[in-house]
Amino acid sequence: MSKPHWRPARASDIAAIDAIAARIHPGLFERPDVLAEKIRLCPDGCHVLAAEEAIVGYGLAHPWRQYQIPPLDGFLIRLPDDADCLYVHDVAVLPGARGGVARAYIATIEQLARASGIAALALVSVYATQPLWERLGFRAVTADAELRVKLASYGDGATYMLRDLAAT
Ligand SMILES: CC(C)(COP(=O)(O)OP(=O)(O)OC[C@H]1O[C@@H](n2cnc3c(N)ncnc32)[C@H](O)[C@@H]1OP(=O)(O)O)[C@@H](O)C(=O)NCCC(=O)NCCS
Repeated sequence: MSKPHWRPARASDIAAIDAIAARIHPGLFERPDVLAEKIRLCPDGCHVLAAEEAIVGYGLAHPWRQYQIPPLDGFLIRLPDDADCLYVHDVAVLPGARGGVARAYIATIEQLARASGIAALALVSVYATQPLWERLGFRAVTADAELRVKLASYGDGATYMLRDLAAT
């Protein structure tokens, strides 16, 4: 059996993405239309992990502003003209397909950022994944009061992290 591979996400993948999100993030619900909007606005940043018969993971990223967090389950409406980071909204992979795949997805996103003249990647780490993201070059950023309020909707322990591409 061939290994699952990342490929660009399509609108027709939304049902599969939604099913994985419901399984992996039961406490962080987002409407399928909200996820579909990200694919529409930034198709190059949104990928699915395709196994032979099924989709087993996804990664969603789009240009954004550093130190700003799009609201969970909220529409982006439009991407900023002055984007200074690629914001990794979520990476979720079914347990059986894990191992090296987040690293591969982030490498794709890094290439996209560099090709777009964007010098940073950003994300919100949840479920104590901070050490994993540190391994991939992200650093936790001290949140000011405004950022802390936005982080709260992502649950306890949510941490805003940045990776400076100029430094690597
Ligand atoms: C997050 C997730 C996508 C990672 O997928 P994965 O394929 O297991 O990740 P990788 O193997 O590519 O891990 C990246 C690096 O972090 C390391 N790592 C993994 N778990 C770690 C941990 N708990 N602590 C420290 N490092 C860790 C890996 O060893 C790897 O480093 P290496 O390539 O130098 O060996 C997967 O665990 C998942 O879907 N989790 C549930 C959803 C979730 O938490 N998403 C993130 C929301 S912020």
